[in-house]
Amino acid sequence: LSSIRVDVSDVEVGTQITVKYLGKPVFIRRRSQAEIEAARDVNVDSLIDPTSQNPNLDGVQPATDANRTIAMPGAEGDAAEEWLVMIGVCTHLGCVPIGDGAGEFGGWFCPCHGSHYDTAGRIRKGPAPENLWIPIAEFADESTIKLG
Ligand code: FES
Repeated sequence: LSSIRVDVSDVEVGTQITVKYLGKPVFIRRRSQAEIEAARDVNVDSLIDPTSQNPNLDGVQPATDANRTIAMPGAEGDAAEEWLVMIGVCTHLGCVPIGDGAGEFGGWFCPCHGSHYDTAGRIRKGPAPENLWIPIAEFADESTIKLG
C-alpha cells in the first residue's frame, strides 16, 4: 500500500491542515491545551461510540483522548496528546465535516445531517454512529507524519 509523508513543522498549536490520502481528506490538527483538556474531561463510557477507532492500537481500545492521538517522538505529558490525525469523512453518510472548533462540542460539525464531534473527533450528538476514523499514521521524525 502507498504511504505519504506530511511535513507538519509549520502547523501551529490550535490549527490544522487537510491533506488528501487515498482519495480522502485527512485532518491533521495540532490541538491547544484547552482542546486537550476538554477531550480528557469526558466519561468514555457515556460516549455514543466508546471505542478509539484507531487501527494503530492493538484490538479494540476505549476512546480516551490518549488513544485517539499520536505522540511526536520525545513528547511527554500534555504534548504527547497534541496531535490528532483523522480521516475527514463523517461516519454517517460520508460528508466532509467542518473543523476548527465547529459544532456544539468545539471540534467538528457535519452540516449534512447535523453530527457534532468533539475535540478528539468523537461523535457526541447527531446521526453518525462512530467516532471519526483514524488512519494508519505515525511520526517518522519530529516534523513528519507518515500516513499509511
Ligand atoms: Fe454527516 Fe449525515 S453525513 S451527518
